[in-house]
Amino acid sequence: MGRVIVFGSLSQDLHLHMERHPRTGETVMSGDIEYRFGGKGANQAVAAVRAGAESFFVGKVGDDPQGREYLERLAAFGVNTSRMEVVPGVPTGTAIIYNDTDGENMIVVAPGANHRMGHEDLAKLDDLEPGDVLLMPLELKHDVVTAAVQLAADRGARVILNLAPFAPLPATVLASCDPVVVNEHEAELLENAGIDAPSVLRTLGTRGSRWGELQVPAVPAQVVDTTGAGDAYCGTLAARLSVGDSPADAMRAASEAAARCVEHPGAQPPLP
Ligand code: RIB
Repeated sequence: MGRVIVFGSLSQDLHLHMERHPRTGETVMSGDIEYRFGGKGANQAVAAVRAGAESFFVGKVGDDPQGREYLERLAAFGVNTSRMEVVPGVPTGTAIIYNDTDGENMIVVAPGANHRMGHEDLAKLDDLEPGDVLLMPLELKHDVVTAAVQLAADRGARVILNLAPFAPLPATVLASCDPVVVNEHEAELLENAGIDAPSVLRTLGTRGSRWGELQVPAVPAQVVDTTGAGDAYCGTLAARLSVGDSPADAMRAASEAAARCVEHPGAQPPLP
């Protein structure tokens, strides 16, 4: 069985539903607030375990009810939480998600305990070995993510870097990732920044996804909420590659997972 180790963020997601997103300076009304579980890293770890990998989440929660509940939830999904920590005196990460009636969203993240992940936490990746996949979004401090890429590459593990939210990491770092995963918006930012990477997988929404010469169509879905679709894609891709699927098969499974994700509210499915 493949191992997927997610070194990343988790958040309590506060969803606000509105007819359309506000413009700068404008006030709009929302329906009742919904509290859900999210954070790109945790969403990816949940997707990886659901796709059949042994999934580890390396991250931090605050010493608050949200953090404690989240630890239990990840374990209930079957994610290995033995490398997680509770940080005293710091809130669990929180994201405010503005959902409009088309199922599109805008997200603002307050990192909380996620930004207490530091270089000392790299020791939790010391057992990485060839065959493992280290999967990371970019909601941790960039110098820590960069060091994790280097460590995993030195140990012969595959690194999948989800460049979300976008940051112009050096080409030398991206060169160690196979692939760098970007959505259309992030792909444009990467191109505008003039940064080349040898292995880039672009998710293209309803047009599917492309990795080099490989193009895989999207799977039809009844869209309720697009939050977390990219994470479902990344976690599933990592899981399927870790168990030996071909890139095309892994992309197909990832597209299927993303389609199923947009059909439920929030980034993660209900507990089984
Ligand atoms: O990708 C979706 C996620 O982005 C949400 O769950 C939110 O927490 C933000 O991190």
